[in-house]
Amino acid sequence: MSQSPPAESAVREVLQQFPDPETGRSIVQLGQVPQCRVEDGRIAVTLGLTTWSAPLWEETCQELTALLKEKYPAAEVAVERVVHQRKPEKLGEIGLAAKTVIAVGSGKGGVGKSSIAAYLALGLARSGAQVGLLDADLYGPSIPHLLGSDQRPVMLADRIQPIVAEGLRVLSMGLLVPPGEAVIWRGPMLHSALTQFLRDTDWGELDYLIVDLPPGTGDVALSLSQLVPATGAVVVCTPQELALLDAVKAVKMFRQVKVEVWGMVENMSFFLCPNCQTRHEIFGSGGARKKAAELGVPFLGEVPLVPELRAEADAGRVRAALDHPQVRPYLEAICRRLVKNLSERNRQNPQLPTLTVLK
Ligand SMILES: Nc1ncnc2c1ncn2[C@@H]1O[C@H](COP(=O)(O)OP(=O)(O)OP(=O)(O)O)[C@@H](O)[C@H]1O
Ligand SMILES: [Mg+2]
Repeated sequence: MSQSPPAESAVREVLQQFPDPETGRSIVQLGQVPQCRVEDGRIAVTLGLTTWSAPLWEETCQELTALLKEKYPAAEVAVERVVHQRKPEKLGEIGLAAKTVIAVGSGKGGVGKSSIAAYLALGLARSGAQVGLLDADLYGPSIPHLLGSDQRPVMLADRIQPIVAEGLRVLSMGLLVPPGEAVIWRGPMLHSALTQFLRDTDWGELDYLIVDLPPGTGDVALSLSQLVPATGAVVVCTPQELALLDAVKAVKMFRQVKVEVWGMVENMSFFLCPNCQTRHEIFGSGGARKKAAELGVPFLGEVPLVPELRAEADAGRVRAALDHPQVRPYLEAICRRLVKNLSERNRQNPQLPTLTVLK
């Protein structure tokens, strides 16, 4: 701690130790401090952060401000954030340009996987990240319905162009086949359809690709893990004891196919009464958090059961959950915790600047 006016070189020394939330490496070494000035006892730092770390922008700036304040209590500290561009590496043999791929699955149908996949994608995109949403439920695609979109993806130079909806790049079998038409797939066809969706699609450069998995067996998860080695999973469950047993199975299934489980989300955790706005824990509480701890999986948070969310989703407005003042804080906290956990891991094991492959 120093009371005398800080020297610019000493401030740079402090910044040198501060990690970039995406890679865990020094912000100075990675060229993420375009400006650092000390004038009349005022420290002004411009901090470049990537869009991958968008959910952590605010807290990262606060952390840096607190660190400089701690070192130089007499100084006025101003941290200004700008966007630092960093392209994703191409992943696997299919060459998908995404920094992080998150598969959303569960052991049981109807627990809200597709809704949570959409909430995650929308939440990350709203905070400022570049996000794609792939509906890998080829038999029962529901993402187009949730987003209220019936746009058709076009082909350009033999490559599928995802549609853009709600700021997300989206691809789903539901956008390719007429609504209500049955699609019949055999196992190998599933794999090749998924390959096309990942390899032959112009996803552009993504921070996150969120993949909504179908209910049931691990076929798609296995294909995904083979095609995109850096994939991690989020397991969705509901609070009933039986559903928790299914969640345990899902975690084991992901582990079997070598997909690391990055977190568990408890959906329909409690009933949020639209009249009195109070919380009713119909199925008890804390079960998923406890189960996650037993399994050694991070618990990311809970989402309340709100009847109007179902009605809004049925009308193609899944985004209503993020606009709902009582629900939004839960969803934002889940997005933040997920990215924070990934960031912490990179801090423990700093990555090359262009990679966030979590292995
Ligand atoms: N937190 C919630 N509050 C109210 N309704 C919800 C909530 N989460 C999901 N739902 C509703 O529950 C139904 C099932 O959700 P969703 O389609 O997301 O589940 P799923 O696990 O993807 O199902 P499937 O196994 O068929 O793919 C939908 O009608 C959805 O709108
Ligand atoms: Mg679904």
